[in-house]
Amino acid sequence: MISSNNLLVNKSNPFLGTIIIPGDKSISHRSVILGSLADGKLTVSNFLNSEDCLCTVSAMQQLGAQIDIDNTSLSINGMGLTQLKAPKNVIDAGNSGTLIRLLSGVLATQNFDSIITGDSSLKKRPMRRIIEPLSDCGAYISSENYMAPLNIQGNANLKPINYQQKIASAQIKSCLMLTSLFIDGTSYFKENITTRDHTENMLEHFNYKITRSDNCSSIIGRQVLTAKDIVIGSDISSAAFFIVATLITKGSRITLPNININKYRIGIIQVLKKMGANINISNERLESNELIGDLDVSSSKLKAINLDGSIISTLIDEFPILFIACSVASGTSKISGIEELRHKESDRIKSMEEGLKAVGINVSSTNDSIEIEGSEIFGGKVNSFGDHRIAMSFAIAGLVSKKSITITDTKNIRTSFPSFVKIMREQGAEIYEI
Ligand code: S3P
Repeated sequence: MISSNNLLVNKSNPFLGTIIIPGDKSISHRSVILGSLADGKLTVSNFLNSEDCLCTVSAMQQLGAQIDIDNTSLSINGMGLTQLKAPKNVIDAGNSGTLIRLLSGVLATQNFDSIITGDSSLKKRPMRRIIEPLSDCGAYISSENYMAPLNIQGNANLKPINYQQKIASAQIKSCLMLTSLFIDGTSYFKENITTRDHTENMLEHFNYKITRSDNCSSIIGRQVLTAKDIVIGSDISSAAFFIVATLITKGSRITLPNININKYRIGIIQVLKKMGANINISNERLESNELIGDLDVSSSKLKAINLDGSIISTLIDEFPILFIACSVASGTSKISGIEELRHKESDRIKSMEEGLKAVGINVSSTNDSIEIEGSEIFGGKVNSFGDHRIAMSFAIAGLVSKKSITITDTKNIRTSFPSFVKIMREQGAEIYEI
């Protein structure tokens, strides 16, 4: 657990051995929401016990779910689709965009009113993307400038949804899919760019019938979700920090077991391999209707990459750490079509550009692209803007930096990866809380 707000990282020794990565964040949120809506008892193993996912647990408890936590295991007594209770207080989604967007889809279809809000970062993030499609099927959500807090006036009689993707976002799709569970009739979902399908996979895991092809699905509401235990794979978005750490520190070789390798999440592996990375996936298997596998990674000479198009959404959370890989690759990388990064926990194009410049890398950007000239990271002081993934990316950069890197405002690492610093230390990294 990180107590101090700043981190200092020095050049460190190679990474070796096996690293156990905590459970997937997206699936952890969904296991709590859908598990609470299922009929019967279930357990969740390898749950991500982090601040974001704990907000989801308390939100569902406020709505009447019985959930017990023991470290990374949950016992949930599912209450079915019809037993949710009005929350007594405002629901706090903390730093979590996934929680506020997914849960709003549930709250909009209840026979009670609710308010959901979040921390100062979440209150700046766009919610119009869910408010508009929910309103189109009859929901009442009021807010100031389409941002949290969201005042949701429940309407248990919404019209079926006809979702045509405007922004490639699994949060928007999943918000509306959760709404559709409570709607009488068939809702349709069409994506131009297919995004992570953990919601669909978990619905099927709970024997909820949905019809689906690669980019279209339909859901008939008001079926039963049959409770079934869930084992969550480890989070590829967290693994990505140690994959890049291994690739860029000479003489490193690690194994990362049980990583979720859902086909809409493995863009980071595909892109790094194109850059010359030695990454091997073995022992692929299905666990709770999700694909998992073991990764073997060894240090590699990386070359620059040009990226654009539909691959972007398959590594949407991994760009900060990819930019670190680009900073030490040979040649200039150009990555386009990434305007969505401006709407994450921080404006990630701006945060990364400022940080990379501060440690000696040449970078330029437009509204939706970035160019990074690979060279040597010199070191310096970087502001993470309270964004967990920016903080962890620069901590990894510190491992190969000529002089130390100091990162400020890092406490939000606990929102997604509370054991990050501990794992760094176990690997012998010189990382200090200052
Ligand atoms: C998530 C979807 C992505 C991702 C986020 C988690 C999810 O957001 O960035 O960390 O669990 O559905 P968008 O849907 O906004 O791209």
